[in-house]
Amino acid sequence: MSAATIWVVDLALSERQLDRCAAILDPSERDRAGRFLRPADRARYLASHAALRLILGEETGTAPVGIRLAAGMSGKPALACAASEPVEFNLSHSGRRALIGIARGAAVGVDVEAIRPLPDALRIARAHFAADEAAGLAALPPRAIEAAFFSLWTRKEAVVKALGTGLALPLDRFSVSLPPLPARLLRMAEPGPWTLADIEAGPGHAATLALRAPDAAICRRTLPVDWPDRLG
Ligand SMILES: CC(C)(COP(=O)(O)OP(=O)(O)OC[C@H]1O[C@@H](n2cnc3c(N)ncnc32)[C@H](O)[C@@H]1OP(=O)(O)O)[C@@H](O)C(=O)NCCC(=O)NCCS
Repeated sequence: MSAATIWVVDLALSERQLDRCAAILDPSERDRAGRFLRPADRARYLASHAALRLILGEETGTAPVGIRLAAGMSGKPALACAASEPVEFNLSHSGRRALIGIARGAAVGVDVEAIRPLPDALRIARAHFAADEAAGLAALPPRAIEAAFFSLWTRKEAVVKALGTGLALPLDRFSVSLPPLPARLLRMAEPGPWTLADIEAGPGHAATLALRAPDAAICRRTLPVDWPDRLG
């Protein structure tokens, strides 16, 4: 049976901890961090990329600073030195959280979204989601629509992130189950079994992990609060 680990990371760090994070990133990551206009976006980027390096370092027996990343198919980040059974991973960050999915031998995608007011939710769903998804959302009580929209969004985005396609795969080409039903892929032209799992990412966040494998076991873990001290 396939398995995946989902790491949930709290990104609220002190300035000192953010400096530790910046110190172990590679020049291209530091360059990108320096181009964010809003300090909160810069901090989220620094912390989530440092956490990714820490976790990939433990997975591969490498120091976080020694992790080499490359753009794989369609730009999906991958480890530059692939082993015989490569470590598959995917990162997502929003609000106070980063999610990092890790698997071996199966493509993994993760998505987390901070739930926020979205008066246009039904219009966006009608324009971009599958017809059954948009109709299901519209049938919900009005007060349930925003949270359901973000859950649905993360379910769909986790799938396209596992595939590595991003928006190259139109989002109406496949459909997923609608909350409050558990996460499940219902219809997709591309063959092959999938496991989708709702992930508890904390109050005000919706999150999903998608793995291109059947009936996978999903293990949820959190980094300890002092994780930046472990960056070496
Ligand atoms: C990158 C992408 C795949 C997701 O971006 P996002 O939701 O804005 O951001 P997330 O935090 O979830 O993910 C970003 C991370 O995904 C990873 N990523 C980048 N390209 C990727 C790809 N082709 N496939 C999978 N993961 C990718 C990177 O690690 C990136 O982190 P970074 O930006 O800090 O370097 C985006 O390009 C995309 O196409 N998203 C679909 C967007 C959409 O409109 N969805 C609508 C609702 S379903």
